[in-house]
Amino acid sequence: MNIETDVQLKAFNTLSLNAVAAYYVEVSHTEDLLQALAFAHQKNLNVLILSGGSNMLLPERIEALVVHMSIAGIEKLSESPETVTLKIGAGENWHDFVLWTTEHHLFGLQNLALIPGRVGASPVQNIGAYGVEAGEFIESVQVYDRKLKAFSSILAKDCNFSYRHSIFKDEPERYIITHVTFKLLKQPQLKLNYGDLKQAVGDDLTAENLQEQVIKIRQSKLPDPAEFPNAGSFFKNPVVSASVFDQIAANFPGLPHYPQPNAQIKMAAGWLIDQSGWKGRQLGKVGMFEKQALVLVNYEDAGLSDVKATYHAVQSAVHQKFGVMLEPEPVLFNALGLIVPHETFERI
Ligand code: EPU
Repeated sequence: MNIETDVQLKAFNTLSLNAVAAYYVEVSHTEDLLQALAFAHQKNLNVLILSGGSNMLLPERIEALVVHMSIAGIEKLSESPETVTLKIGAGENWHDFVLWTTEHHLFGLQNLALIPGRVGASPVQNIGAYGVEAGEFIESVQVYDRKLKAFSSILAKDCNFSYRHSIFKDEPERYIITHVTFKLLKQPQLKLNYGDLKQAVGDDLTAENLQEQVIKIRQSKLPDPAEFPNAGSFFKNPVVSASVFDQIAANFPGLPHYPQPNAQIKMAAGWLIDQSGWKGRQLGKVGMFEKQALVLVNYEDAGLSDVKATYHAVQSAVHQKFGVMLEPEPVLFNALGLIVPHETFERI
């Protein structure tokens, strides 16, 4: 285990924010994790867990130990007539893992192709796209529990998965995910209900084609972080009660929306931002992408303050027009490496 000092994290976060970690260590084995935690304890440092860096807002200097979770490995645990259960290291690249499952004729995750990030982050915000959420195929999550000071396994039913949410968001400093166990199908069950996916898939009803079409749709709308640094959807799609939705929709009948459980309605944040004039608009170094208004892009070597200025302006514009407060999806860290709430409501 090699603990480095003053490490630039620009290459490790997909928004390419300038952020220097006072201490940094890459962890490839569970034993290294314990050593890293002991080091942080001894130095009285907080621990910031870094995965694929695709959902984080980092300050310019972080006085903490940044632990880059790089545990690798795909292990087959068991098989039934219908399913195969696989345990995946938290450090595996998500998209490569999805491609691997399709090559091995294991089904369920194809709609989630091309999502940036690593496997260990997939349960945290229960990544989802095109009508599928990772939580549907997760059997359990292997963690180091910092409260109980022990490794343990949490069953999916106890992870409380919901839209972009899980227990790992409720108690962010408690669990460090080391592996994720997935139960995948041996026979494809294609989910084609989302938007224009069915049309794109056409008559070739195979999981391989579904995966290919998802990749094409994403590539046509979403910027490649290597070219335009971004963190995917920057805001969550707001979920409101049916009565609040009816009030808004009375003035904006074209608003795309999706009914949710408990009679709630999810509205398309991309549309709200687009209609507020922010699609393809830039404030300083940071703007909302021209092909998908929901994606915030770092165009010119921005820092966290530049990002905040733009997203606050977008929030205000949407709030003014629709009375809806958009909530950012990426997690915000402070200079001590702790997760802090976005200052959303203080400003309005
Ligand atoms: N729309 C606009 N203008 C825009 C963008 C979108 O009018 O600039 C409209 C679209 O025409 C469509 C609706 O808004 O009617 C929804 O847009 P889209 O289908 O592109 O999906 P989304 O709601 O913007 C969500 C997820 C994505 C996921 C896609 C596909 C959230 C916050 N985002 O986006 O997830 O890939 O659906 O399932 O739930 C991510 O979380 O990083 C992410 C990319």
